[in-house]
Amino acid sequence: MATRLGLLAIAVASLIDSSFALGSQCSAAGIPTTAASGSFWLESVASQGFSPLNPDTGYKVKRSVKDFGAVGDGVTDDSDAINSAISSGNRCGLGCVESTIVPGLIYFPPGKYLVKKPIVIFWYTQMVGDAKNPPSIIAAPDFAGGPAILDADPYIADGAQYWVNQNNFYRSLRNLVLDMTQLPVDAGTWGIHWQVSQATSIYNLRVEMSKDPATNHVGMFMENGSGGYMGDMVFNGGKRALDLGNQQFTVRNLEVNDAQVAIYTNWNWVWTFLDTKVKNCGIAFLINTGGNTTAQTVGAQNILDASIENTKIFVQTTTNQPDSLAGGIVIDNAELKGVEIAVADKDGGVILAGGDQTIASWVQGNVYEGTSNTPKYVRSTLNAVKKPDSLLEDGKWVTRTRPQYENVSPDDIISVRAEGAKGDGQTDDTAAIQAVFDKYAGCKLIFFDHGMYLITKTIEIPVGTQMVGEAWTQLMASGEAFSDVNNPTVAFRVGKPGDQGVLEISDIAFTTRGPTPGAIVVEWNVHDPEGQKGAAGMWDSFIRIGGAEGTNLNSANCEKLTNTGSPECMAAFLGLHITQQASAYLEGTWVWLADHDIDHNNSTQISIFSGRGIYSESAGPVWLIGTGSEHHALYQYNLVGAEDHFLCVIQTEVPYYQPAPLAPAPFTPECQWDDPTDFSSGYAWALRISDSENILIYGAGTYSFFNNYEQACIDTRNCQSVINDISSDSENIQIFSLSTVGADKMLSVDGKGVIDQSANAEGFQSTVTYWTQ
Ligand SMILES: *[C@@H]1O[C@H](CO)[C@@H](O)[C@H](O)[C@H]1NC(C)=O
Ligand SMILES: *[C@@H]1O[C@H](CO)[C@@H](O)[C@H](O)[C@H]1NC(C)=O
Ligand SMILES: *[C@@H]1O[C@H](CO)[C@@H](O)[C@H](O)[C@H]1NC(C)=O
Ligand SMILES: *[C@@H]1O[C@H](CO)[C@@H](O)[C@H](O)[C@H]1NC(C)=O
Repeated sequence: MATRLGLLAIAVASLIDSSFALGSQCSAAGIPTTAASGSFWLESVASQGFSPLNPDTGYKVKRSVKDFGAVGDGVTDDSDAINSAISSGNRCGLGCVESTIVPGLIYFPPGKYLVKKPIVIFWYTQMVGDAKNPPSIIAAPDFAGGPAILDADPYIADGAQYWVNQNNFYRSLRNLVLDMTQLPVDAGTWGIHWQVSQATSIYNLRVEMSKDPATNHVGMFMENGSGGYMGDMVFNGGKRALDLGNQQFTVRNLEVNDAQVAIYTNWNWVWTFLDTKVKNCGIAFLINTGGNTTAQTVGAQNILDASIENTKIFVQTTTNQPDSLAGGIVIDNAELKGVEIAVADKDGGVILAGGDQTIASWVQGNVYEGTSNTPKYVRSTLNAVKKPDSLLEDGKWVTRTRPQYENVSPDDIISVRAEGAKGDGQTDDTAAIQAVFDKYAGCKLIFFDHGMYLITKTIEIPVGTQMVGEAWTQLMASGEAFSDVNNPTVAFRVGKPGDQGVLEISDIAFTTRGPTPGAIVVEWNVHDPEGQKGAAGMWDSFIRIGGAEGTNLNSANCEKLTNTGSPECMAAFLGLHITQQASAYLEGTWVWLADHDIDHNNSTQISIFSGRGIYSESAGPVWLIGTGSEHHALYQYNLVGAEDHFLCVIQTEVPYYQPAPLAPAPFTPECQWDDPTDFSSGYAWALRISDSENILIYGAGTYSFFNNYEQACIDTRNCQSVINDISSDSENIQIFSLSTVGADKMLSVDGKGVIDQSANAEGFQSTVTYWTQ
């Protein structure tokens, strides 16, 4: 352990001593919340959001379903009205591949919206209800016309679907109740068909289904995609309350009551269920297992901080488990009350007995230790791992929901457009935006009406800021200040080193207009105040670099295979930097260098270049809940001198162009940035940890899919030789459920390959259930 960690600990301790002086009107404690009367602020706030690059100057981003004729009386069929609120304005529906210029925020005032037909959730659509009084969408008894009531990817002829499942970005559902109880009991209708990818979210959703023992209702069906995050959901009733399959996903705070099967997982590479409550069900988790390379089933499933009550079986697998890898399972802190069997095989045979007990740690799968390359197949309890107190609250991982400001009155909201920022993708908004932060941070909720806000100098986002976008408002860095790769410059600086206080960001997309080789897109400095763990956080926001209209980093100038680092295709120095004295609660953060052009040319692949993904040197605590980092040249996640981090499903892909050029080109590793120096594989690292302590990872999906845009290497499972590296100067590094694709060695220690994928091949992916030093 290097001494710098010790020094850091002292720095943070002294910070906490000098607690922030509160009392002034604007403060690091954030805006006062009073029980505001009247409607939800999002309903009453003047709608000044627009889509500047949409040729239709009358295009509306925010639409209330009532303006399209929805009645909301529980009797009138509102399906056509809701569908036209979604589709009006030439949006991205059937026949449209993807588009960022047609955002839609579909608002539902309080009411009961009866629907007789499916509601098709177009590409780039948020469906948002009143957070104070969530509206219901009620399926009529004669509902017909499709398998799902809310459908994010409808089927068309021949099993095809509207959108490519792995590119099904930009959807959100918030503050909604979906009522399926009027449907016939035997209807096999799905409440939500949620076949989605990154940049999607669900917050505050309740689904009501029949509780009849003969019910066929399914609350959510997901068959594939590449997600993702969802949370704060309640499902009552149903045959399978949720039936889920996707490459990777994080689900936080899911509650299921009175279902036959609460959660069925049909396939995955790696999922985590964090903070799940199941009550009065037959089976809490039914896991489809026993697959192989041709018939993929569940690869890895983590169940953390679960509470299971009055339910016959906690976990059941669909195959009787041989004494070899057949679906990795991790149970970590599960409280059982009135559970007959904790873990059952296919026939209900007892693998782990139930009762009233707390399971500290139980795993099924291949376990490795240190530099040994021999797996041990385990199906048993483990010694509980050491979890630092800083990451916990009441013995569970700290979790924080996305703030929705339902108690903030409209008078406490400041619109950046009303304050003079243009958001038109042309005007330099640097001064206007900085002025808003300087004046209102810590006393008003700063609302970024939808738009594209260009900035040309570093924006200082002060501690105390609470800011929210409108359907992922774009804050876009461009110009000279970010043009020098040898002089990297922060575009959005969140607090200053040493700051302590509240900081909240949600619904924002941080982007660049290239070339921006010197851009550090977001630098995160704020530490949460003592006694308020997770108060410095970001929710449902992402860093998206290139690939879209207005970025100048797209198929028009950076087509794949034609450039190996052209100056005009240089997109960023670093995506997200979490600095030494910061803490961070990041939920649903995707740091994406675009691999394809979303807006032009049918998703054409492009070659643009970003040096680094997420770099943390924080002394903690840091919670990364459902995050991803993709296609950066040197690394996706780099933890150096970091302490007390909880990583709960991280997902990565390396650049598709590598090894042309070989990593790290077109960038140069720099030691003052703690860059890795070993690039002998010629490829970027997915995850690299060095000189760090107490890093707990529950779910990592790290993938290598290409050799210079060719995919033959997937079949031979060796697109790159090694993908994740841990250095032995680190302490207490715990990795549960590591799944890799296309890497010969899944993990190396000090650069020497340790874990062979071939010993852990399960389906398309290889999975290790647990590795520790
Ligand atoms: C995703 O699911 C759809 C519908 O079942 C299927 O047609 C498609 O082949 C699946 N794609 C992948 C990549 O699994
Ligand atoms: C994979 O599993 C399927 C379904 O159990 C089985 O039909 C198939 O033969 C298996 N394939 C291999 C290569 O083991
Ligand atoms: C579309 O891609 C082609 C190459 O495939 C390129 O020549 C053209 O400029 C692109 N068009 C746009 C509008 O990006
Ligand atoms: C887009 O690409 C897909 C897959 O290659 C192809 O089936 C489709 O016809 C293309 N559409 C257009 C408009 O070029």
